[in-house]
Amino acid sequence: MRHATFRQLEIFEAIARHLSFTRAAETLHLTQPTVSMQMKKLADSVGEPLVHQTGKRIELTETGQALAVAARDIFTVLERFEDDMAARRGLRRGRLRLAAVTTASYFAPRLLGEFARRHPGIEVSLRVCNREQLIASLNEHLDELYILGTPPEDAALVARPFMENPLVAIAAPDHPLAGRHRIGLAELAEQPWLLRESGSGTRKAVEKLFAQRGITIHPRLELGSNEAIKQAVLAGLGISALSKQALDLHPTGQFAILDAEDCPVRRHWFIARPAGAPHSAAASAFERFLLDSRPTAGTTL
Ligand code: PGA
Repeated sequence: MRHATFRQLEIFEAIARHLSFTRAAETLHLTQPTVSMQMKKLADSVGEPLVHQTGKRIELTETGQALAVAARDIFTVLERFEDDMAARRGLRRGRLRLAAVTTASYFAPRLLGEFARRHPGIEVSLRVCNREQLIASLNEHLDELYILGTPPEDAALVARPFMENPLVAIAAPDHPLAGRHRIGLAELAEQPWLLRESGSGTRKAVEKLFAQRGITIHPRLELGSNEAIKQAVLAGLGISALSKQALDLHPTGQFAILDAEDCPVRRHWFIARPAGAPHSAAASAFERFLLDSRPTAGTTL
């Protein structure tokens, strides 16, 4: 068996598959005498016949059947090896272009940092914008992967959830609603609200929370970032609702999390890419990294 060659096993596998020397020769683009000669050599190395031939009909001997299984296993192992090689080659160098909504900037750099440490040859870039801008980029295939709160239903994309993204109502710790239980949404809506700019996913989620109950809220102030919202909340300008992740770096108690009806709103973070767009080995690896590691919010609340 030691003198059998890989090519002979390949020819034999084709014969076993088609039960025909002629078909095997055709599929491998070989002449029939070459196929017959290689099969004779293989049977000699094995030391037993591999096929019975009656007229044109071919049947595998018991040894032939076992060898066909072994040959297929060998090919499968080699194919997997080739796939791994290709993936490693692709990951040794390469680029990962990621875009994330503003609020994801509280955790995306940490995840990207860990991924970059595992794959030092990959150049990573992260663009941060609000949801509306991100969806426009996605439609134009500007980046390969996108992290966002609620994927749009009408866009052609593949989106998978990888982490929880609860929306919590917040106030300054000395706010009259702090510490109250089960605050009704109608009462919450009467408060002066601090809202993110339109186009923000957070804003959309806040508006949806009230709209589901037929309530409209009137923003006292519209602010272009979570940081500005937090400062305004602490300054006593009003209340707001933000992704819990936006509070991760703050000590417990700096903000009051309001115990309001339907809050926290259960949401998820999604990793998305345009459907049908080619994507690099680096992008697939990052998607896998997020979905396999199932990161947690890591919040101090
Ligand atoms: P935003 O999106 O940063 O645009 O507000 C965040 C989210 O959808 O949770």
